[in-house]
Amino acid sequence: MADLAIIGGSGFAQLADFQMQRRETINTPYGEPSSAPALGRLYAHEAVFLPRHADAHTIPPHQINYRANIWVLKQLGVKRIIAFNAVGGISAEFRPGVIALPDQIIDYTWGRAHTFFDGAVGDHQSAVKHIDFSRPYSEAVRAALIAAAKRGAVALRTSAVYAATQGPRLETAAEINRLERDGANIVGMTGMPEAALARELELPYAALAIVVNRAAGRAEPSINMQKIAEYLKVGAQQAMQIVKNL
Ligand code: HPA
Repeated sequence: MADLAIIGGSGFAQLADFQMQRRETINTPYGEPSSAPALGRLYAHEAVFLPRHADAHTIPPHQINYRANIWVLKQLGVKRIIAFNAVGGISAEFRPGVIALPDQIIDYTWGRAHTFFDGAVGDHQSAVKHIDFSRPYSEAVRAALIAAAKRGAVALRTSAVYAATQGPRLETAAEINRLERDGANIVGMTGMPEAALARELELPYAALAIVVNRAAGRAEPSINMQKIAEYLKVGAQQAMQIVKNL
């Protein structure tokens, strides 16, 4: 049985070095996941891969069925999840090309189905429950990724506050200033509710965030999509280098 699941973000619709063996269609009480999870081998280990935006990058951040995605990974019995996220850099040290391992989250998203414990589904999951989320990412998975980055000599910033915004539009310059005042270092659209849902199902979860642009108002007058694609390509390779060493 696969130990590791990878949730791919932008730039990770396909996972380099992943040899898919089959896809597993799993029904969930919450509807369909972004795609049928792929089971296969990654660097000689069994692994599960799920592209968050679907195979052809067709699902925007606010439409992703985060609950179904986490649910299917739980059904597959994975023991830990590594999520990839493309992000904008708010603080100067989080310049494009940096890979960050966030340790905190601030959630600005709204209107997303964000919990398994909402009483809407008539099974054991519906009981009201308040998870501890003081440290939103698994310290064990984070530590393993930090060690792997060291082994692979890949530069990794091991602490960052991730601001999760609603999207799909990028932020205004004033919104980014506000996020900075709140203490956020990086900004993305898909970190939540994914991380909280993983915690609700007691799935150890950590995220590798690839900085692909300076956040709004931080550098150029507008954000350049072409450059984002370039940073994503290089960042994805480095992030996979970390996973390889894991
Ligand atoms: N803002 C929000 N999400 C993002 C960004 C950004 O600047 N870059 C990549 N994902």
